[in-house]
Amino acid sequence: MSGKRTVTVTLDGSNKSTTLPLLSGTLGPDVFDIRKMYNDIGVFTFDPGYGITASCDSKITFIDGDEGVLLYRGYPIEQLAEKSTFLEVCYLLLNGDLPSPQEFRNFEAGVMRHNMLHEQIRQFYNGFRRDAHPMAVMCGVIGALSAFYHDSLDVNDPESRRISAFRLIAKVPTIAAWAYKYNIGQPFMYPKNGYSYAENFLYMFHAVPPEDYKMNPVLARAMDLIMILHADHEQNASTSTVRLAGSTGANPFACIAAGVASLWGPAHGGANEAVLKMLTEIGHVKNIPAFLEDVKDRNNHAKLMGFGHRVYKNYDPRAKIIQKACHDVLAELGIKDDPLLDLAMELEKIALNDKYFVDRKLYPNVDFYSGIILKAMGFPTSMFTALFAVSRTVGWVSQWKEMMEDPGQRIGRPRQIYTGAPQRDYVPIAQRA
Ligand code: ACO
Repeated sequence: MSGKRTVTVTLDGSNKSTTLPLLSGTLGPDVFDIRKMYNDIGVFTFDPGYGITASCDSKITFIDGDEGVLLYRGYPIEQLAEKSTFLEVCYLLLNGDLPSPQEFRNFEAGVMRHNMLHEQIRQFYNGFRRDAHPMAVMCGVIGALSAFYHDSLDVNDPESRRISAFRLIAKVPTIAAWAYKYNIGQPFMYPKNGYSYAENFLYMFHAVPPEDYKMNPVLARAMDLIMILHADHEQNASTSTVRLAGSTGANPFACIAAGVASLWGPAHGGANEAVLKMLTEIGHVKNIPAFLEDVKDRNNHAKLMGFGHRVYKNYDPRAKIIQKACHDVLAELGIKDDPLLDLAMELEKIALNDKYFVDRKLYPNVDFYSGIILKAMGFPTSMFTALFAVSRTVGWVSQWKEMMEDPGQRIGRPRQIYTGAPQRDYVPIAQRA
């Protein structure tokens, strides 16, 4: 980060002013470094929702929202989606560069060695209701890992951090698949080494003990692709939640559980579940205009789910990739006409030509099509966000690790504009009217 240029802020009506360095990253807009502003002129900054505030510097992921660009460690998402695998992307996100063949073999073996859950965790599942949402189970079980792996909780020890990273990435598919098996009352399937990461998830999710499981390579590739597309997305709400929790020195299992909770909301990772619900409610192409009128009516709280993004003011590059994968998967499964896909494509076409969405630069995001592909692959809607959490765990862990390795790291502690009552004196209850 260079800081040769400056900006001077003068407080109107006073003789106070401050000169702030203007910092430049490798890509993206410059940022004012406001850290000394309060000391110099006694004011804070106000940016609810952190629309234009950089909360950290990071080398992991870059998004250009106007151009629709997404890079992991500098590599375009389109190239990784076409040529890489999820586990290789995990290595890249965690370590900064693509692995050599030997580095990859070691990494893969490390992840596979950690994919079982402590046997005692099986009992933990019995505490949930059978109809527990998989995200509720994931919040609980991931947080509970802190109670099982005391040997890797020292956040200041690089080796502990490395082992925790392996444990989290390796165990989340098992946790998510078991949440589903528990829902439907089937036996838990233990991970099986020899399968890839994505294959293993499909196996634990779909297989049952009495039958041999036949892996479909097209579906396995689609699963791997979905995982790559969701692996990281810079300082989004759940990642910022993980960083904020981690900034206190909390252990990584607790921090990732916080990230899962933050991802759950329909404005974030919960949107893929909400898209499918919305498409089912619309029901038919002929109902699209009335639905869009509802969305545009400011008295309604309805949103076109799967559309819009804080950063992308252009087509989300992940949405383009997933839309194509959707067609491949449906073709593989012999689904010639999927009414939901047809409806989604028509809805997208109409919305992209509607002044409301054009003026606000609202384009489909990754969630618009991910639900359709996941449904075709046999996942119930309740699993969609859980699958997102499985894929995003590597991003959360990489961002947490980067933060913990930063010597300048401080506890995250935003300020506020206080708009409550000014100071006043307590009145005993008997004297109050
Ligand atoms: N449908 C209808 N109107 C929308 C939508 C939408 N999906 N998204 C934004 N708008 C409107 C807002 O009402 C606002 O209108 P106004 O200027 O008349 O007040 C304008 O567009 C700007 O939107 P903001 O809410 O300011 O955008 P913000 O960056 O705060 O929100 C968000 C981004 C939360 C993603 C929003 O677009 C949304 O709720 N989308 C639907 C949910 C969704 O798909 N989320 C997944 C995001 S991707 C991910 O997390 C993986």
